[in-house]
Amino acid sequence: SDVNVTKICCIGAGYVGGPTCAVIALKCPHIKVTIVDLNQARVDAWNSSDYNLPIYEPGLEQVVRETRGRNLFFSTDVDRGIQEADLIFVSVNTPTKKTGVGAGFAADLNFVEKATRRIAQIATSSKIVVEKSTVPCRTAESMRTILEANSKPGCHFDILSNPEFLAEGTAIADLLNPDRVLIGSLQTKAGKSACRSLCEVYANWVGLDHILTVGLWSSELSKLAANAMLAQRISSINALSAICEATGANIDEVAHAVGKDTRIGPKFLKVRSVGFGGSCFQKDILNLVYLSESLHLPEVAAYWRQVVEMNEYQKRRFTRRVVDTLFKTITGKKIAVLGFAFKADTGDTRESAAITLVKHFMEEKALISIYDPQVEHEQIWMDLQEAAPDYAPQQIKKQVQICPSAIDACHEAEAVVIATEWKEFRKLDWQAVYDNMSKPAFVFDGRLLVDADKLTKIGFKVEVIGRGAPGTEMTI
Ligand code: UDX
Ligand code: UDX
Ligand code: ADP
Repeated sequence: SDVNVTKICCIGAGYVGGPTCAVIALKCPHIKVTIVDLNQARVDAWNSSDYNLPIYEPGLEQVVRETRGRNLFFSTDVDRGIQEADLIFVSVNTPTKKTGVGAGFAADLNFVEKATRRIAQIATSSKIVVEKSTVPCRTAESMRTILEANSKPGCHFDILSNPEFLAEGTAIADLLNPDRVLIGSLQTKAGKSACRSLCEVYANWVGLDHILTVGLWSSELSKLAANAMLAQRISSINALSAICEATGANIDEVAHAVGKDTRIGPKFLKVRSVGFGGSCFQKDILNLVYLSESLHLPEVAAYWRQVVEMNEYQKRRFTRRVVDTLFKTITGKKIAVLGFAFKADTGDTRESAAITLVKHFMEEKALISIYDPQVEHEQIWMDLQEAAPDYAPQQIKKQVQICPSAIDACHEAEAVVIATEWKEFRKLDWQAVYDNMSKPAFVFDGRLLVDADKLTKIGFKVEVIGRGAPGTEMTI
């Protein structure tokens, strides 16, 4: 008969595991949810009395305040968490491999494997093990092999795939009201039973018509496919934005007109960024590319790879526009970069376009001042060092400074580059910014954030991504 889940353990207290299990705890007061992580500092932050949580996510603190100590617990005692649970989510990190076979493309499954081996070693009763991290197709199969080869007598493991579709910055809203919950299982009697047990958990707040149950491989591939197709829309619109900038057509108008087609739809057609960032899109597409190549499907691999290449092109193109506009050189010039997170409402910088932009500006020998309302300074230094390994740390600090406010960052700058769509940049006292800048004062809006007309009236020369330089608009 189906397992009635009363204790859940989540391995990995990161961007996925933390919010997901906090919401499960909120909606299922009868289930004890324990989130475990090897990283003591991270667990301490989740447990901190002033709720200084390790990730910034609107609404998250409120959920943790309501559930922590009630039926939500954070701990470094991974083994005890495993031992107690009926159901275990594996939400550990799966970065792109940096070395070895598939370097730069394949996912590093080391953390998944370690966590899986730990489950096999520690468990003394049967468990449902749920793959939550984004992983390449057929990872569940590897997990099953490891679990079966190492389990104790009488311990049975069922593996489910339950990919998470939340977007950062809107994680809590996405979790409370998901477009769909996807659960993949083996189509065996035991697999289907495990699947029903997990359905029961979600059914506490998600309508059954929104819970899709499919085969294990379909579930794993759907996650990669969804992210690849979302990213593909952005690369498509970014490619069109290059045509707009060259012709004077307006990408906003084009996207609006295209999106009115109900077969296409309006979402994810915004040239909201100088290329997409975030921990998922690039990683998942590269996984898909690697998978296609492994399956001897080079045309499929080339098709998806182009989505990532277009994204790199978008970033290069934006840098070139900044340099060209500033009279073809930015050497020794002060450039203020507003925003460093890959999108607003998160402190996450993974694959942020801002990193690439700052690196390009460094290579052009500019002086860069950065401000972001959420990103830790130490994170910015780490990101820049990783992006520019040839630069000595002192050299980076000679060219880059991190400022406590947008006004500070813009002081005496020649240009302001808006890299993240934080609302506070729209509300900035742009007159004050202008008064303290070198003239002519340029604003490069990489996020279609500010009112270009208003800024132009103040005196700025405004360059907006997806629009031609001022004066190139078609007048017919
Ligand atoms: C298309 C556009 O739909 C229309 O808006 C435009 O004005 C002209 O081009 P049409 O070519 O008449 O219209 O037919 P459409 O239904 O779009 O199909 C085009 C092709 O795509 C067909 O070969 C169809 O079989 C194929 N198709 C369509 C698919 O392979 N899969 C789909 O999901 C939809
Ligand atoms: C994404 C998916 O949306 C989510 O379903 C999946 O689970 C994880 O990956 P996330 O990376 O958190 O979520 O954020 P998302 O809002 O999708 O933005 C990703 C990037 O695309 C950002 O850099 C954003 O600025 C950019 N973007 C998004 C655009 O450039 N244009 C758009 O229209 C939308
Ligand atoms: P994601 O965005 O996928 O949630 P994160 O890097 O934010 O990724 O979080 C993954 C978390 O998993 C990290 O906090 C890391 O310390 C934790 N982790 C990795 N491997 C293990 C493991 N074997 N046991 C427990 N926690 C782990």
